Order: sequence, then structure tokens, then C-alpha cells
Amino acid sequence: MIKRAFTKSLQLQNRFHAAIPGGAHTYAKGDDQFPEFYPPIIARGKGCRVWDVDGNEFIEYGSGLRAVSLGHAYPEINEAAYRQMNLGNNYVRPAAIELEAAETFLELVPGAEMVKFGKNGSDATSAAVKLARAYTGRDMVGLCADHPFFSIDDWFIGTTAINRGIPQNLIEQSVTFLYNDIGSVKALFARYPGQIACLIMEPEKYDPLDLNFYHQMQALCEAEGTLLVLDEMITGFRWHIGGAQTHYGIVPDLSTFGKAMGNGFSISALAGKRKYMELGGLQHNEERVFLLSTTHGAENHALAVFMAVVEEYKKHDVIAYFQYQGERLRKGMQQIIDQHHLAGYVDIHGHPASLVFSTRDQDQQSSQPFRTLFMQESIKRGLLAPSLILGFSHKDEDVDQTLEIINEVAVIYRKALDEGIDKYLEGRSVQPVYRKLNHEALQTT
Ligand SMILES: Cc1ncc(COP(=O)(O)O)c(C=O)c1O
Repeated sequence: MIKRAFTKSLQLQNRFHAAIPGGAHTYAKGDDQFPEFYPPIIARGKGCRVWDVDGNEFIEYGSGLRAVSLGHAYPEINEAAYRQMNLGNNYVRPAAIELEAAETFLELVPGAEMVKFGKNGSDATSAAVKLARAYTGRDMVGLCADHPFFSIDDWFIGTTAINRGIPQNLIEQSVTFLYNDIGSVKALFARYPGQIACLIMEPEKYDPLDLNFYHQMQALCEAEGTLLVLDEMITGFRWHIGGAQTHYGIVPDLSTFGKAMGNGFSISALAGKRKYMELGGLQHNEERVFLLSTTHGAENHALAVFMAVVEEYKKHDVIAYFQYQGERLRKGMQQIIDQHHLAGYVDIHGHPASLVFSTRDQDQQSSQPFRTLFMQESIKRGLLAPSLILGFSHKDEDVDQTLEIINEVAVIYRKALDEGIDKYLEGRSVQPVYRKLNHEALQTT
């Protein structure tokens, strides 16, 4: 094993924390999410690989918080961005490319009749909630409690442990139901009849969508006058180029996209049925809704990038590739788990385009220290993988190398189970993002 030094990354940490609250602009990238002595700061990326400021090379998974689905510095995408930047980027009136991008999107997602672009996924999900509240005249929102993130805004963050600064009345307006559990949806409507503006959930997370559940939920929503919103931030451009809704042949009232549609550039979308979306328009004379209007919403190079992403997906059948390569990765990882007798301790699950692993301790309890150990040993060997979400740039040899590394990590994981983790874990454990205090549950082992 090459000995990797993390000297410069470690030295930069203090400056990061002095300049940026949390030491990162996104909590999921924060130091508390990575092993204490192995927190690489990235200098550059190409394809599925990144290099840190110490010059270490890594195979990376879950790039750009799952946004970079084609690969880093992907030539056709960067060229599309440069081409558009050279034509100008933002004017006083709409640019023709705004229509072109909207029509491209609507062709991909047959259930959507109108679309409006934003920059972040949260722009889109919060706009969906606002539109549902405006249409129904209701304040309450039903969120799927099994799905970990919908928005940086109060209607969602109010439901987490980090709800400081969010008014109590807003927190109380967000209520929850469970995925694939029609009883929980019925119970919610029974408890708050005629009060819920919309239900929002990801079409799929780890377990496949039960279509029976979906159709029953849709019928209940219709009966209640509640809108159904599918958040396709992760499933969009991974399950199907037109999202999981197209894959499953279902039509929500509203849906939200982002992440992979821009391969790391900033673009998101709120899409849906005309009768709702049009409330944000100029062609009706009902009371108006202020729907997604931002300075950078139509930043032209992001729109050009989106259309280039669509072209690449079509040219190479990227969705089929995710299926192929994800299955290889899943099978390879499962073999390692079996070979090292780690069943019940390490698990790989999810859709081939969105694979994640979970870690358990010697008592088969979900374990952050064991997650830390897994990451510590992978990072030491050149694998940066908080998840195993791959992209189009993960070729056979990259996945093979990933599996070789995981095979070595598995040996240590097994020893830590048998001999105690203290002997192997070099620093404090990673921590859940949603916690009240920074140091409340800081586990050293
Ligand atoms: C399912 C889901 N919805 C919405 C969002 C919010 O997107 P953004 O971080 O671009 O605001 C995320 C981000 O991780 C997400 O995973």
C-alpha cells in the first residue's frame, strides 16, 4: 500500500474553519463526515478520479453530492459551457436558450407540462411546496420521513434535530408519513383532514417503489385535494433520463429535479401539471403566486450544459451503463462481504445507479465508528467513497480497483469485529449531520 500523507489537507483545516462556518459550504462535505486524520481537500478532478492538495489520487464515488454523473471535467460538457459563455450569459430579457432548454426538458418527462429552472434543488422543492400551499390555501406539508433531505428551507429543516432559528409554528406545519406504507398516509389524512397542501417524497430510495402503494396514495391525495410531489433530485437522470416517474409510468402533480441534470453545474427544475404551474404565470387573473424568480435562474451556460448532458445520455445510453456498472459493483462487493464473513455487518444496497453501503458493529447494530473505519481504510488506499454512487466515468478498471481496495478494507473490518475497533480506528467517529450539538455524541470508538 502506498503511504499517503494528508499534511496539507490537515494544515488547511484551521483556515477553512476560520473562514467558513462548518469548514465547508455543504454540511455533507464537512470534516465531521470524514475520518479525523484523513480529510482530503480536493485540488482537481478528472473523470471518476480526484487529486487532493497533497497530491494523493483517489477513485471518487458520489461526486458533487451525486451531481457529477458523467464525470469531472467532462470534455463535451465543459465545451458546451464555454461555447455558451462566449455568447453571453444573462440578459435583461429571456434568452432563446431558455425556451430550448425548457422544451428539451419537457420532451424527456412526459408527465410534465411546464417547467421552471432554478439553481439548487432546494429552490425547486421549496417552490413546489409553496405552489401547493398557494393552490390549496393550506399550510401543512406531509413529508416522507424515510427520506433524509428535501430542502435547506424551514419547512424541511424544521423537522430535523438542527431546527434552531426556525419558528415553532412552521415546525408544526410539517408532518410525516412512511415510504411504501399506505397505513401511515391514511393515518396522516385522518389526523389532519383537509389541512395538508401536499405530500412530498422521493419516488424511490433504497427499496423499489410499491406501485400499489403509489396508486393508493395518489387516490387518497385526490380525494383530499392534496397535491402529490415527487422529488427526483437523485432519481432523475439516474433511474431514467425522464426520472423515476417515467421509469414507473406515473404522473405526479409536481416534481423536482437537479443534481445530475447539470453534471455538477448549478441547475434545478420544478416541473408539473399546467393547472398548478400556470399559477406562477401571467396569463390568468387569479391571485398571483411568486414562483421561482431569481437573478441566476436561467444562467445560460448551465442551460447549455443541461442540454449537453441530455445529448451525452442519449448518445451513450448512460442509464443502461449505470445499470451494467452498478450491478458489477454490487456483485463484486457482495462477493467480498461473503468471502470475509461480513454478512450482517457490511451491506450494499440501493439502485445500481445509487448504491450505498451500511456498516454494523459486532452486535450488528448500525455503527458510525465502523463507518469511519471503513472510510479511513479506503481513503488510505486511494478510495474516497462515502457512498458507492458511480458515474459514467467509472470504467471496468476503476470498479475493479475499487473492489481490490474494498477487499483489503474488509480484512481490517473483520479483524476490528473480532478484536475490537479501538485497535484499528485512528481518530474520533464520523457524526450524523442532524444533531443538536456539535460534540454531543462524539464517539472516539
Ligand atoms: C432528495 C433531495 N432533494 C432535494 C435536495 C436539495 O438539493 P440542493 O442541495 O441542490 O438544494 C437534495 C440534496 O441533497 C436531495 O438529495
